[in-house]
Amino acid sequence: MTNNIVIAIDGYSSCGKSTLAKALAKKLHYIYIDTGAMYRAVTLYFQRNRIDLNNEEQIKEALKNIHLNFHSRDYQTHITLNNEEVSEEIRRMDVSQLVSEVSTIKSVRKELVKQQQRMGRSKNVVMDGRDIGTIVFPDAAVKIFMTADPKIRAERRYKELLAKGESTSMEEVFENIAHRDYIDTTRKESPLVRAHDAIILDNTELNEQEQLQFVLDRVNTHNV
Ligand code: DC
Repeated sequence: MTNNIVIAIDGYSSCGKSTLAKALAKKLHYIYIDTGAMYRAVTLYFQRNRIDLNNEEQIKEALKNIHLNFHSRDYQTHITLNNEEVSEEIRRMDVSQLVSEVSTIKSVRKELVKQQQRMGRSKNVVMDGRDIGTIVFPDAAVKIFMTADPKIRAERRYKELLAKGESTSMEEVFENIAHRDYIDTTRKESPLVRAHDAIILDNTELNEQEQLQFVLDRVNTHNV
């Protein structure tokens, strides 16, 4: 249980969860927590240190050596991995390709969920991820479940990656999204599912302002 207000935003990959969550946090003066960034930073550590994803002992040892921290500047997420700023690096395609596998590992989830619950207990937060409304904060004040047409999601993501100078193709991005959807929804540990009390937000045809308004209307209804 928590006395602080938690707004949970879950949904598929590249649905615009973080854009919406940031805008919402800014509007309500809440802290924004991007839980995907935490799974990505752990993935980066595993990748750099060549951790064998089938070796539970190695994983448990590695988790003891991982220290993550968030710094918020202008509602942009800055995450550090053992004091090194990795915010850009964790968005690379090779990290995106491995992160779903890493996030199926029980001990990884257990550790990150614990840290997320600690963060949500001390401040009012908007938290985005896959299991926030189901596992991390089942008692969240407002739960949103985001979805959008996979082709539109791939197009948006492709444009973002191009703007950052990554060399990739539309096919590669589409396949990565489909692959992550598959793993996220079928994994044994905390699969991506809509909490029974989550409000569905399909943003295929909504702009950012319309999405923000949609959620603010629900937040007002719930007297948050
Ligand atoms: O939101 P994102 O695409 O940055 O998340 C990266 C991966 O992390 C995603 O493929 C699934 C996983 N993830 C998760 O399993 N649980 C969360 N709460 C957040 C992310």
